[in-house]
Amino acid sequence: MKKKLYIGSNLKMYKTVSETVRYLQRLEENTKEIDKDQVQLFILPSYTSLAAATEAADTERIRIGAQNMSWADEGQFTGEISPVMLEETGADLVMIGHSERRHVFGETDREENQKVKAALSHGITPLLCIGETAGQKEDGISEEILRIQIKRGLRGVSEEQLGNVWVAYEPVWSIGVDGTPATADYAEKMHKAIKKVLVELYQEAAGQIPVLYGGSVNAENAKELIVQESIDGLFVGRAAWDADQFRILIQNALEAAQKKLEAEKKGVEER
Ligand code: PGA
Repeated sequence: MKKKLYIGSNLKMYKTVSETVRYLQRLEENTKEIDKDQVQLFILPSYTSLAAATEAADTERIRIGAQNMSWADEGQFTGEISPVMLEETGADLVMIGHSERRHVFGETDREENQKVKAALSHGITPLLCIGETAGQKEDGISEEILRIQIKRGLRGVSEEQLGNVWVAYEPVWSIGVDGTPATADYAEKMHKAIKKVLVELYQEAAGQIPVLYGGSVNAENAKELIVQESIDGLFVGRAAWDADQFRILIQNALEAAQKKLEAEKKGVEER
């Protein structure tokens, strides 16, 4: 395949420790045929499940990460969890700026940036989430919002660090039970805009950053989304929380990507 796909799930505030372990065991079992060089799988469970999750999973095949993190190593920050503590769990990935963190808990681009830099300084891969609200989309300023979120979120991140940065585009209006999935065309348009900003910031080195789409992804729309030129992966919520259902989604995405590649090859041969 042309490029490696990134497919993973945020388990949000669902699944206890034992449920997470059972889920991971099942996912590992039913995805064992999938080549890890073709698909990078990842799961983000609750903090209390992280240590058990890194024990239970073959983390070479299924990367385990946290859903949030403090930007400080330690301090008077009651209730927060630091990158040092995250490292102790064995996880090496952290989601930063999920829409629920931004819109339910009021996190700002500035805070997300501090967290991104803190993660990188500890060798933890930040998965920076960005996305416009329904109102911003209606006002026709989606691309401007994404530009701001990227430029602020990655401020101070050097070119050398890019090999360790992931981005997810998750329009706020598309997430969760009340969300409507973005059409593949719309998602592609926004991914193109995101990549354009990344190239402005980092030129060729920007190509190292995978940009994933998230928001009401399911086993059906996964096929159409994954074949878009600028979509490097899928970030899934609800449709991934049953390991067998998630397996179908992953398989569908992989097959669609392979089919596209074969069609492209054939096109080149016929020319
Ligand atoms: P959803 O969640 O797939 O259930 O819409 C996506 C997310 O919150 O990352």
